[in-house]
Amino acid sequence: MSRQEDLDTNRSNNAHIDDVIQAQLADPGRRTVLKGTGAWAALSFLGGSTALVAGCGGGREQTVAAEATPTAVDIEGRRPQRRPDALRFSAVAKSLADDVVLADGYSLQVLYRLGDPIAAGVGAYRNDGTDAAASFAVRAGDHHDGMHYFGMLPNGKCGKNESDRGLLCINHEAITPMFLHANGVTTEGSGTAQHRTAAEEVLREFYVHGVSIIEVGRDKRTFEVTYRQDSPFNRRIHTLTPMKLSGPAAGTPYMVTKYSPDGTRTRGTVNNCANGYTPWGTYLACEENWAGYFRRIAAIDNPKRTPKELVALARYGVAGNGRELWATVTPDTADDLYGRWNAEVRGATAADDYRNGPNTYGWNVEIDPFDPDSTPKKRTAMGRFAHEGAWPAKVEAGKPLVWYMGCDARNEYIYKYVSNRPWNPADANDGLAAGDKYLDDGKLYVARFNADGTGQWLLLDIDEPAIRNYVAYAFADQADVLINARLAADAVGATKMDRPEWGAVDPVTGAVYMTLTNNNATLRSLAATDAANPRHYNDVRTNGVNQRGNPNGHIVRWQERSPDATRFDWDIYLFGARSTADAVNVNVSGLTADNDFSSPDGLWFSTATNICWIQTDDGAYTDVTNCMLLAALPGAVGDGGVKTITNTDATGNARQVQTFVGAQPGARLKRFLVGPVECEITGLAETPDGKTLFVNIQHPGEDTAPANISNPTLYSSHWPDGGPARPRSATVAITRKDKGPIGL
Ligand code: FEO
Ligand code: CA
Ligand code: CA
Ligand code: CA
Repeated sequence: MSRQEDLDTNRSNNAHIDDVIQAQLADPGRRTVLKGTGAWAALSFLGGSTALVAGCGGGREQTVAAEATPTAVDIEGRRPQRRPDALRFSAVAKSLADDVVLADGYSLQVLYRLGDPIAAGVGAYRNDGTDAAASFAVRAGDHHDGMHYFGMLPNGKCGKNESDRGLLCINHEAITPMFLHANGVTTEGSGTAQHRTAAEEVLREFYVHGVSIIEVGRDKRTFEVTYRQDSPFNRRIHTLTPMKLSGPAAGTPYMVTKYSPDGTRTRGTVNNCANGYTPWGTYLACEENWAGYFRRIAAIDNPKRTPKELVALARYGVAGNGRELWATVTPDTADDLYGRWNAEVRGATAADDYRNGPNTYGWNVEIDPFDPDSTPKKRTAMGRFAHEGAWPAKVEAGKPLVWYMGCDARNEYIYKYVSNRPWNPADANDGLAAGDKYLDDGKLYVARFNADGTGQWLLLDIDEPAIRNYVAYAFADQADVLINARLAADAVGATKMDRPEWGAVDPVTGAVYMTLTNNNATLRSLAATDAANPRHYNDVRTNGVNQRGNPNGHIVRWQERSPDATRFDWDIYLFGARSTADAVNVNVSGLTADNDFSSPDGLWFSTATNICWIQTDDGAYTDVTNCMLLAALPGAVGDGGVKTITNTDATGNARQVQTFVGAQPGARLKRFLVGPVECEITGLAETPDGKTLFVNIQHPGEDTAPANISNPTLYSSHWPDGGPARPRSATVAITRKDKGPIGL
């Protein structure tokens, strides 16, 4: 779990599920709770479904048979869309070693570490904090996170089947500041007077956030994967990169800043967590915990704000010193390089300061990796929140395009975006122009999970009565709805979830999976448990420390009733737990020593093998194991049954919750990799042949005390370089020793 990762600001009265009984009575379309698994599975698959094969140059779609284990082949007669029978590797044991532990038969290469050079003539990273700040414009950033592999044709265009040459787009979510600078972070003062005294350090931090685009190649004979340091496609995008604002909120008064008085542009992107991609070969870098970077001292700024502005600022958590104190550098530059992170009202109008700076963050940023000179675009139609990522559904000619999105904070919501224009495969090579067509014009929905196992997508539109008449915040127009999507979601009665992280669409069934990484008893009480967030328990660490709430998380999944439907059926695929936990109410999925895990975060389906990969970003089970990567072969929504879970809180209160539980995974879930000390395992990408898997090892050693920067023996990790080296986030490339597909 990374530092300052959480900004939990949902104080709305929304239930985790609206009143259970009321909902059941009022909803004539509710799913009948069927006894036995077959009936429900059949119901979920009525009419079949379509599945995604991603990539530029047009997506292919397949119709999947109406059964839990489909056997149809795709329309080109290739790649059967069925799940493998078994995971053909031996599970790795849990590990606390400062190393990557990998399943037997596989090998790993460290491909791309913090500071690695991506332009000709740039020297190797010294990794002692002395590399010049500006050199990071052509070096790897920190905290590698979501990523995507785009195959590349010999002509430099996107080629969905190219496995030996491609562009890897990698997010750099955040930083471990102490390891970036020679002697850690230098500050003076305390409280709101605490400030940065070394502009060079802050500049370095500006550059190490953002995105890397690197050209990678695989040797056909040895399968060695390398990145090409001098590729003309290599690019860093960071907090200084000019960006266009696009879509309904662009050019509105809410976006006016001193940097862009017409509200059409902003500078940079930050806290790019998970990601997405489009069928026209562009990348989506999603802005997650951006709010914390802004400085806004409430005592100074609140008196200058309207009541409505204060509601919006509170809902997004824009308050405080700014997590890295970026706004505190003096003197500032002529173009407000540092002061732009101060979101207080300081000038006469919005065009004189950065009071609206936070409105220009919290979006999905579209980047064309094949055009290194292109200006990224922030797609405002997809809404503004703590974007984890944006995961495309099936791509089907003549049908709208769909992306699923999570807002990563405790008690936040799950969203989906549906393009207004139907997909035309002729747009497959149109880059950002295709983005203008499909990502600037669409409908934004938020999910409600009903207690009866059905769900509903609720439209976030200014013409919806619940939004237009919302008392807590008077929406002015659709731009206001999109900028304050969390408030709009409150208004329509979305379901608060146990912290949505990654989502993914199953190529076999078309079901959508989303990790709910965890929640705690402070922010989600026993009384707030509901069918979709059904557990409240005590996970006791080996040292006796209690962890109450849902510290181990779960994975929800749903099946849309039609591709762009507003109704769905859901169940809970998997519950995180210690294998030793109460098998009835906590270890509900029957996890064993081979597959027990906590705090699922990354989630991704291989379109080559149809394996579901699950990554953890955990702080609960870390007394026993470092974070990990697991492989899974899920069934389908409804393959388990109805279950009643009995929860208890710290004072002994009990509450029973009825939920819908997927079939226990057994050996169809196995631990594949365990990472080094204090890392998070995140980011998944694969070559189209399924034979090279890219994984990110984020922030090893992040809990090292900053005071110990001068004593390497006290660093908690030295991965990947070993010896006394400072730890570095890195992308690794995994291949099977016999060069076969990963996981099979
Ligand atoms: Fe950046 Fe949602 O983890
Ligand atoms: Ca992290
Ligand atoms: Ca994450
Ligand atoms: Ca996480």
